[in-house]
Amino acid sequence: MKPILVSGIQPSGKLHIGNYLGALKNFVDLQNSDKYQCYFFIADLHSITEKFDPKEKKEQILNLTADFLAAGLDPKRSTIFLQSRVPAHSELAWVLNTIASMGELERMTQFKDKSERQVENINAGLFDYPVLMAADILLYDTNVVPVGDDQLQHLELARTLARKFNSIFGETFTEPKDLLTKTPRVMSLKNPNKKMSKSQPESCLFIDDSPETIREKLSRATTDSGSEIRYNQETKPGISNLLDIYAAISGEEINKISNEFSGKNYSEFKNKLSDIISDYFAGFRKKKKKLLASDKRLKTILSAGSKKAAFIADKKMAEVKKKIGVAL
Ligand code: ADP
Ligand code: TRP
Repeated sequence: MKPILVSGIQPSGKLHIGNYLGALKNFVDLQNSDKYQCYFFIADLHSITEKFDPKEKKEQILNLTADFLAAGLDPKRSTIFLQSRVPAHSELAWVLNTIASMGELERMTQFKDKSERQVENINAGLFDYPVLMAADILLYDTNVVPVGDDQLQHLELARTLARKFNSIFGETFTEPKDLLTKTPRVMSLKNPNKKMSKSQPESCLFIDDSPETIREKLSRATTDSGSEIRYNQETKPGISNLLDIYAAISGEEINKISNEFSGKNYSEFKNKLSDIISDYFAGFRKKKKKLLASDKRLKTILSAGSKKAAFIADKKMAEVKKKIGVAL
């Protein structure tokens, strides 16, 4: 049996190049490596912990499904599903709630950040977010979880909860490991000391941005004093972030890229980077447009994937119910 791999992304806005280089590109590479049994899902229940418009949710779900497929995820090789269509996720989250400690959840940096950002809506779901994420993972006996580095603390909690449940109720869950890419933390175009995040759209390069938008955003991206194209995260965080993106998209080594641009200025570098990114995503943009033209296929894929996922998840949930003594 191949090791099991699970990951999800929230349908809460367009994907940026950080989501792509930290997560989605890796999903596709890992799927294609044939080394894992892969499950990828749309984390719609997580996405409602932040302000949202119910009229837009369906479109966001289908849009992210199109992103998955256009980037190269293949329903024949991976199970692609919608979290809310597999009720076991919410059921297991409830059970795990009873062993998760308040103190542990209060320490979650994402909860603290989001609470500061949405003071008018610090809901219990936002607090409980990491427990639902643990349920997502533990239901499938997951071995590896590819994510960006902002999710490592949540993954640690999933391991803690697995251990705790196993020690109280007997061996039930597998402890998952993280899988990071070379670019686990792409930084904001506006402030290279902060991570690129959907919550600050002006700092993002979206993967379906047009070539003109990409050029314009990169030309305005914050760079550092001096004019050299040289990698140094401390003294040149802006250029280093762009070099990281360049290397990840082109597959070239950073040293080779900075040599190629020695003696050239920031704008020459940014222009070349715009071309590389636009070309890289040209096929993606085309495929995505085609997929969105008819959402029937997207819905069928999610339905079939959710059925497959539910088959596995329900079995695990039945085992959990037995272990906690509620199965009659
Ligand atoms: P965001 O943080 O932009 O709202 P999500 O929480 O939906 O995005 O993240 C989806 C995936 O993308 C996760 O695996 C997350 O770790 C990864 N990710 C998010 N931002 C970045 C980033 N700036 N660099 C690398 N990976 C990222
Ligand atoms: N919390 C993740 C994020 O914001 C999304 C997510 C939900 C996830 N459940 C998951 C990622 C399970 C990996 C595994 O990016």
